[in-house]
Amino acid sequence: MRVLVIGNGGREHAIVTKLAQSKRVSQIYCAPGNAGTAILAENVAIGVSEQERLAEFAIANAIDLTIVGPEVPLIEGIVDQFELLNLPIFGPRKAAAIIEGSKTFAKEMMQKYAIPTAKYQVFTNSNEALAYVRQEGAPIVIKADGLAAGKGVVVAQTLAEAEQAIVEAMDEKVFGDAGDQVVIEEYLTGQEISLMAFVDGTTAIPMVISQDHKPVFDGDKGPNTGGMGTYSPVPQIADEIVQQAIDTIIYPMVDAFHQEGIVYKGVLYAGLMITDEGPKVIEFNARFGDPETQVVLPRLKTDLVDVFLAVIEGRLGELKIEWSDQAAVCVVMTSPGYPGSYPSGLEITFPEQIDSHTIVIHAGTKEQDGKAVTAGGRVLGVTALGSTIQESQKRAYETVEKIRFEGAHYRKDIAAKAIL
Ligand code: AMP
Ligand code: GLY
Repeated sequence: MRVLVIGNGGREHAIVTKLAQSKRVSQIYCAPGNAGTAILAENVAIGVSEQERLAEFAIANAIDLTIVGPEVPLIEGIVDQFELLNLPIFGPRKAAAIIEGSKTFAKEMMQKYAIPTAKYQVFTNSNEALAYVRQEGAPIVIKADGLAAGKGVVVAQTLAEAEQAIVEAMDEKVFGDAGDQVVIEEYLTGQEISLMAFVDGTTAIPMVISQDHKPVFDGDKGPNTGGMGTYSPVPQIADEIVQQAIDTIIYPMVDAFHQEGIVYKGVLYAGLMITDEGPKVIEFNARFGDPETQVVLPRLKTDLVDVFLAVIEGRLGELKIEWSDQAAVCVVMTSPGYPGSYPSGLEITFPEQIDSHTIVIHAGTKEQDGKAVTAGGRVLGVTALGSTIQESQKRAYETVEKIRFEGAHYRKDIAAKAIL
């Protein structure tokens, strides 16, 4: 089977790595890919939003299966375009991907179908938004409605921070059009988990859970990022809580799409806060999480191609998906300055030998004159497997410490919440 993976981040390198283990796969292409995917796949210089060129490539190269990694092409409708041409593709259509493309749409769906989430109000006028936060007080959460690369959310601890976030998003337009409308919501407390499920339109099969670390610095300090590291399983969250989240959030959401006449096929990602009142939704994404995928897919025992085809063909109900008991920890290494501005093109040096339980997943890297250089905010995700979280954590950090590029930053406390 010839497969094409669209995207160039750590998530896509993790997907390519898993596909390379499948007996059913003979050739992998990655568009546009990075210096890591280039090792296992052939990188193709086509951008994620170049729908027509991607479809032409799939036809010309007899691609049997295309997998879409990032949200942007999904929201732009790449799946609809491929389906029109009868090209098999994994991911939700445009009408379904809006669950991630508009926070207002997501909130309205949750309200309509009584899916637990934070209380909220939507604003298109900054004066009204300011009046609302003055009335509600802090802490409070300000979210740009549209896509902002994981950076459009401000958890304001003070009223001044909330006011500043509103002015920046709505008046100064720091997120462009994404901030024309904002969702202001109740501040929730508890531990966060990421619960992803494969969905084939009617059946949902949950994956094992993971925990991300959004803020840039240790102890969850500093601005939010796309994700600084993950681990799976999350032993401090009881199985009954996970089951409650599946029963009150994942299954009802899949039914809600069905009732709305929207076909949802692909990965449904729920970012959850485990509050005293039970799990509540922080966000939905229409794709695999990044860096959640880097710890979840290494634990998948079932052939990933079988899962993708079952989703596309609506046969998930016939499939048994199996997971390993191993623990996985992923530590993300970033460029200096991220999530603000950062330099590119810094040479990365790797140790000659990497422990056999560890893989270095590339995110923002590219090949230049035969060398890997930095080419993004999140540069690498070092993922290690072990029999316990402690063992995986130790292995991941041992490799992280041996990788060098100028100004490299990483959190030193990934998975610390699991190790009491
Ligand atoms: P999001 O991009 O929606 O996942 O939000 C980024 C991060 O902001 C989340 O991972 C949470 O840590 C935090 N966050 C978002 N919404 C809330 C909320 N209602 N209460 C507390 N923290 C939140
Ligand atoms: N790691 C969070 C996300 O993928 O949105």
